[in-house]
Order: sequence, then C-alpha cells, then structure tokens
Amino acid sequence: MRKHLITGNWKMYKTPKQAKELAQQLKTDLADVKDVDIAICPPFTALPVVAEAIKGSNIELGAQNMHYETKGAFTGEISPEFLLELGCKYVILGHSERRQYFNETDELINKKLMTALKMNISPIFCIGEKLSERESGKTFDIIKSQLNNGLAGIKEGIDKIIIAYEPIWAIGTGKTATPKQAAEVHEYIRDWLKKNCSLKVAEEKRILYGGSVKPDNIDELMAEKELDGALVGGASLEALSFIRLVKFQKV
Ligand code: PGA
Repeated sequence: MRKHLITGNWKMYKTPKQAKELAQQLKTDLADVKDVDIAICPPFTALPVVAEAIKGSNIELGAQNMHYETKGAFTGEISPEFLLELGCKYVILGHSERRQYFNETDELINKKLMTALKMNISPIFCIGEKLSERESGKTFDIIKSQLNNGLAGIKEGIDKIIIAYEPIWAIGTGKTATPKQAAEVHEYIRDWLKKNCSLKVAEEKRILYGGSVKPDNIDELMAEKELDGALVGGASLEALSFIRLVKFQKV
C-alpha cells in the first residue's frame, strides 16, 4: 500500500521570517496527521529556520534544487551536503521551471538524481508535457523520453526516487488535469517502471500529481488510485489551504 505524500513547493516565495511563521502554524495544525506523509520545500535561505520550526514534527523538509557536485568552484550553487546538514530528506529535481528558465536538460537532471541517491536524499523527479505536445498527441513520447534520459543508468536506489507528473500546461494556470488525464499518464509511468525496472519498483513507486492542485479539487484527484499524492505550488503558500490539502477527504 503506497502512502500518500503531500508536498509544498514554495518556489521563490517567503522570506525566512514569513517561512518560519508558516512552518510553525503547519506544525501545530498538522500534528494529528498520521496517514499521510507531509513535506515542505522552502527557498534555500529559509531552510535553516524552517528546519528548526518543524523539529520533532511529522513534517519533513525538502529543497527545490541542488548541484550534482558536492563541492567546488560553482558560484551561486548549492551542494547536497549543505542540504543534508540542514536535515533535508527530499529534493525536487527537474522541475519544469528549472527546465524552462534555467535550461536544465534531462542529462543534467540525470546527474543530479545520481548524486542525490548517492547522498541519500530522496529526489522528487518532475516530468511533464507542454500544452502543444499534449495537443499534438505527443504526451506519452515526451514522458517516455524524460524517463529514459532522466533515469538512464540508475539502478541502485531507484526505489528512493519519487516521481511527480506535472503537465506544464497545468502549473500555475488554474487548469488542472482531470483525475482521468492524470491517471492515464501515471499508469504509463508505472508501466514504464515495470518494463525497465521491476514489478516491485513499479508497484511501490509513489507518483505524485502536480499542477493547480487546490482545496476544491484535491479530493477528486486523490480518489484516483493511481495518484499517490501531490506536489503543490500556489496552494501550499497559505496555511489553511495547505492544511486542507493534507487533510484531503477520502471519497
Ligand atoms: P501550482 O505549482 O500548484 O502552483 O500549479 C505546482 C508546481 O509547480 O509544482
């Protein structure tokens, strides 16, 4: 049985002070949640205060990116070692905004995934198609090539990778994929894992959905058995809304 994971991706929002306040409120109001795993991914600058604020709680810490080397002359970059020392359990890799605005390629993401696994940080590996690709019937081809290239050469530790299916046309647009649209792609991903890894990896893999997940659509999305949680941007920035997402109603 796969346990759901609800993850907040705070993107480039929240100063350390604002992040601390939100984390403190989440810690208090989510303390009774046991059946869902919870993670928040604040900006790098807020990781230390958020780590402190959620200490001893059921909320795990994640980062939004990292470099594939652990040290070196890489001005402006963040080493996985820094993340580990701050208590990060997860790191988001290959988010579409990194691919789109910072030219991250499947090959680069592959290197980062390998390093994260070596360092024992669970990557949340994001994949998803653009609107034009969906409209021209290329969704599965894109997903396949992102999986083939992103996971190339990764065998050991593959079980630690969480996959997030995030159709780019649904991110921050208010357009959510229907549960059926999402489930179709999740099934395709699971099938790929079956063929390329093993039945066990496929069955145990948590595949999250991301893209305009909100309090008013979380219940129907999570009712879809293929969806093992959500990666949430906008709706994770307000305590009440994120709390409602974590406490989704089983329908
Ligand atoms: P959104 O972002 O929930 O604001 O659409 C999701 C994401 O980018 O992970």
